[in-house]
Amino acid sequence: MEIRKVCVLGAGLMGSGITQVCAQAGYRVAMRDIEQRFIDGGMNTITRNLTRDVEKGKKTREEADAILKRITPALDLREAASDADLVVEAVVEDMDIKKRIFVELEEVVSRDCLFFSNTSGLSITELASVTKRPDRFIGTHFFNPVPVMRLLEIIRGYETSDETLEIAKTWGKKIGKLILRAPWLTDSYFKDPERTKDLWKDGWLYTGDVAYIDSAGYIQITDRTKDVIKTGGEWISSLELENLISLHDAVLEAAAIGMPDPKWGERPLLIVVLRPEYKDKVTQDDLKNYMMKFADEGKIPKYGVPDKYLFVDGIPKTSVGKINKIQLRKLYG
Ligand SMILES: NC(=O)c1ccc[n+]([C@@H]2O[C@H](COP(=O)([O-])OP(=O)(O)OC[C@H]3O[C@@H](n4cnc5c(N)ncnc54)[C@H](O)[C@@H]3O)[C@@H](O)[C@H]2O)c1
Repeated sequence: MEIRKVCVLGAGLMGSGITQVCAQAGYRVAMRDIEQRFIDGGMNTITRNLTRDVEKGKKTREEADAILKRITPALDLREAASDADLVVEAVVEDMDIKKRIFVELEEVVSRDCLFFSNTSGLSITELASVTKRPDRFIGTHFFNPVPVMRLLEIIRGYETSDETLEIAKTWGKKIGKLILRAPWLTDSYFKDPERTKDLWKDGWLYTGDVAYIDSAGYIQITDRTKDVIKTGGEWISSLELENLISLHDAVLEAAAIGMPDPKWGERPLLIVVLRPEYKDKVTQDDLKNYMMKFADEGKIPKYGVPDKYLFVDGIPKTSVGKINKIQLRKLYG
């Protein structure tokens, strides 16, 4: 199941933070609270955070504006939740209030909509019991401040299904640039003044890696920032696409790059070398259907499935044997 629109209930400390990170990850978000002043408070917090990011050079003005545009503040529950694929409840820590909200929600959301409850310690099984979808109900525990603390605990209820758990895990893998600070880190690239200029900003070393923090608190590196494919404001890991297509029996090796696209900015292209015995026996559609399976399983988002597959005899490598993406982009990008 693909998550496109998220509804966040509560515009407080957690709700506004969750709204911001969801919009940053490319989701459309409706943020609902019960009084206009709470909504204004949440929106002010988000705007302030984004302005600070722009001032510090962490985001461009255009990126910040695009994030704000994805957020719709709302007072009306039906307006906020009726077309949502996922509702994240982040209202006050009170079992009765939370239960009441989930009962109300059942009346307005679609049959498939998932419920995530952000709680510090209330029972997910008990909360889920008042709904008709305990299998599609899961607990989340973000850490304050949400846009900074990129750690998310996921709490399974007694009846939470495996599918819901997988969707929650994929949703929670918010990716970002890996930057470092430590008592000693290198101050330059060896004999490379050009790249050295971009190495340090604001007291942080920019590693050039894209990573996320998993639910156990480990950093998982998924790509290099220059290789990540940016489509419709979302980031797709080229490494993940390469790993998945390599599981196909016919594929000997593969490389994923972003192709310029007038509508989406970039779209992924998979460049594939087939094993000799499969030559001319596998089509683009076969590979696309194979990748769609991973989207259906929630391993990659649907928009991450490449539309184009190019069959080649060999993939160029650098002197140290890595895929030469610069050359691939020149040849096919
Ligand atoms: N603050 C933290 O560090 C932290 C950490 C982890 C989990 N949590 C949990 O997250 C939840 C939210 O915490 P918070 O700190 O953001 O609280 P908060 O008090 O800052 O915000 C709660 C918001 O929910 C709103 N609200 C109340 N009823 C509502 C309804 N029916 N519909 C929509 N909005 C409604 C309130 O008006 C308020 O704006 C709590 O369950 C809390 O235990 C908080």
